[in-house]
Amino acid sequence: MNEIYSRLMNESRRIASRYEVPEFYRRFKPALAISRRIFYHNPLLIHCRALISPDFMDDFGHGIQHATKVSVDGGAIVLLEGEKYFTVQAELERAVVLLQLAGLLHDCRRTEDKHAFAGAQVARKLLRDFPLTPVEVTCVAEAIANHEAFSEPQSCGTLTGQLVADALYDADKFRWGPDNFTHTVWYMSNYRQMDVTELVSRFPWGVNGILRIKDTFRTNIGRQYGPEFIDLGVRIGKTIYQYLQRQLDTLPIAEASNVGESGENVHSNE
Ligand SMILES: [Fe+2]
Ligand SMILES: [Fe+2]
Repeated sequence: MNEIYSRLMNESRRIASRYEVPEFYRRFKPALAISRRIFYHNPLLIHCRALISPDFMDDFGHGIQHATKVSVDGGAIVLLEGEKYFTVQAELERAVVLLQLAGLLHDCRRTEDKHAFAGAQVARKLLRDFPLTPVEVTCVAEAIANHEAFSEPQSCGTLTGQLVADALYDADKFRWGPDNFTHTVWYMSNYRQMDVTELVSRFPWGVNGILRIKDTFRTNIGRQYGPEFIDLGVRIGKTIYQYLQRQLDTLPIAEASNVGESGENVHSNE
């Protein structure tokens, strides 16, 4: 990563660390712990992670760290929401595995146009050789195809499919909160060689643009706890913006503008 972006990202993380942890993480520790255990110990997930490791878009801010957070948070949402639908614990945990496979794969084509559709195609192909039923493969692929923001979702054919798709979307959009300002925006801007001065000039629009996602959460848990992620991200973003404005005055002009130009906004259009 460019040295300026690296420095600004580290400072952004320092700023963000002064803010509270979202209630989702404080309230649902047991579900998150179960989700994390499944994510790191289930053989299908271990195998899938190993297979796609070379394709992770770490330098675009949508790599293993992003996929892991989406998978663990999404798995917890499935556990919490699924209590109502599943009477057999093994079936509920199977739904978590499907969600986490989708979490690992959902952004594997993040730099392409229509990346959700492209990612779904990759998932269908890759999972063909996994011990999954055709219905389960479709469940994962449909969840990935439906995870893009501000696009009308297609309804899924099964209850499990709908739950997995909705949970994937919500866990992915949790990332529009603090993570956007501590991680994603810096990697995406660096990848696209965006001019730092331009990034700063786009910040107010981007911070406010993020608010639009608040009304799109799809599960009960997402609707209840998702907006707090977004509000928290916006508060952190505003503080970072003030910091950036001060920094821009002190950065040498050549240094601030030595990484080209791009049209990327400050929020990651997932
Ligand atoms: Fe994502
Ligand atoms: Fe995405």
